[in-house]
Amino acid sequence: MQREQWNSRTGFILAAVGSAIGLGNIWRFPYMAYENGGGAFFIPYLFAMLTAGIPFMIMEFSLGHKYRGAAPKIFAQLGKSLGFRLEWLGWFQVFIAAVIAIYYVAIIGWAISYFVFSISQSWGTDTNAFFFNEYLQLGDNSPTKLGSMQFHIAIPMAIAWSVTTLAVYSGVKGGIERAGKIMMPLLFIMVLLFIARIVFLPGALEGLNYLFRPDFSMILNAKVWSAAYGQIFFTLSVGFAIMLAYSSYLPEKSDINNNAIMTVLINCGFSILGGIMIFSVLGYMAQEQAKPITDVVTSGVGLAFVTIPAAINLLPAPYIFGPLFFLALVVAGISSHISIIEAVVSAVIDKLSISRKKAALLVCGTGFVISMAFSSNGGLLLLDLVDYFINNIALLSSCLIELIILAWLFKIADIRDYANRCSEFSIGKWMEICLRFIGPIMLAIILVKNLINTLTDGYGDYPIADQLFLGWGLVASMLFAAIFISVISGNNISKEPKL
Ligand code: PHE
Ligand code: NA
Repeated sequence: MQREQWNSRTGFILAAVGSAIGLGNIWRFPYMAYENGGGAFFIPYLFAMLTAGIPFMIMEFSLGHKYRGAAPKIFAQLGKSLGFRLEWLGWFQVFIAAVIAIYYVAIIGWAISYFVFSISQSWGTDTNAFFFNEYLQLGDNSPTKLGSMQFHIAIPMAIAWSVTTLAVYSGVKGGIERAGKIMMPLLFIMVLLFIARIVFLPGALEGLNYLFRPDFSMILNAKVWSAAYGQIFFTLSVGFAIMLAYSSYLPEKSDINNNAIMTVLINCGFSILGGIMIFSVLGYMAQEQAKPITDVVTSGVGLAFVTIPAAINLLPAPYIFGPLFFLALVVAGISSHISIIEAVVSAVIDKLSISRKKAALLVCGTGFVISMAFSSNGGLLLLDLVDYFINNIALLSSCLIELIILAWLFKIADIRDYANRCSEFSIGKWMEICLRFIGPIMLAIILVKNLINTLTDGYGDYPIADQLFLGWGLVASMLFAAIFISVISGNNISKEPKL
């Protein structure tokens, strides 16, 4: 049977952008930029985008286009041509995607709840107590002492799962591509509408000034550069099976270079919109409360679910801005979630030669059940711990291994030639230099630093046993399971999947 294909070039780009643009653009990027030198962060960020983001994206699009398979199949074939087994790397990436899918959906669930709360600001004035005590009901739980499942969180999570399942179940054209075509324009319109009003509020420009005012003293700081590189891999969804799966559905005649560059630029452009959105709100809030902006900036979940609701309380027409913000979060999140699940589903289809519909139900059903752990009282803590290890250890290791194998053992010039043959304009030799030297060196530095920090200090205040079990243990078992699958399947690559 023929592999499924995207219907149109725009459809593919919107789907790839849908994956790239996620919660990370709205709440991770603005805070990272702010923390790492404001406007000066754009220099390392743009540098990372050019030297790592674009080359990596071109490389992944080429691999998917050439080998027409999900990550395990691609790496198995690459391994064959190199003379050793590599399928495990594909499965390791698929497991990373699977784990992320399972906790990412919890945040989407919260955003769905908050969309509802925002209509009447039923989060009250103490948004901090509301989030942690009333909504999550965190209590004195821990990542391993989860308490019980909470239906008011489980139900929105189930809603998110239903949308994802429907998209993936309905196929590349009829589901994923259609979802992207609806969600991405909607997302841009919502964010632009939000910004168009908000930047005219008093204080908004001071907020933006804070975000964009460059602190050049930071630019020589290694921490800033590693933050920029870390953010680029995360924000572009490269290195963990997603873009490989999406590009495996590209038609023969596809402009790889152009598609890759478009995807990267749209994602990074959207991050700037995210920054403008968040910081104009924070600027306004600081002004209203007569506080310096540094007092109102927060990070991560606290930013989206505590600070923004508090800021929305102060806005004119909060019943419009609130739903707009949280719906944007939901749409950005679900379109990414679809892509993470598709990375898993496409690998299952390749491997087991089962139909897409069966694979979708199997993956989403299993994912749904496991994700219920995150609807428990301790769900946030579990999420925080797992997310740290996945992002800082597993994801970066996977990117680094992929890069070393492809750029050093494989002839990266062949990949560049391949991409150039498929494209209208050619990418120069600089791509090889980036992938062979700059990328691996930066990744290795960041990874080693993370490993040392985590080994010596651990993460957060979580008990050591929890960190060993849910952090290191999880990453090790993903690696082990990946190697196991690769070994038992020998070197045969399954035939073309049925549709
Ligand atoms: N690229 C997404 C973002 O910026 C991150 C992501 C995508 C995470 C897909 C997980 C899965 O938020
Ligand atoms: Na992103």
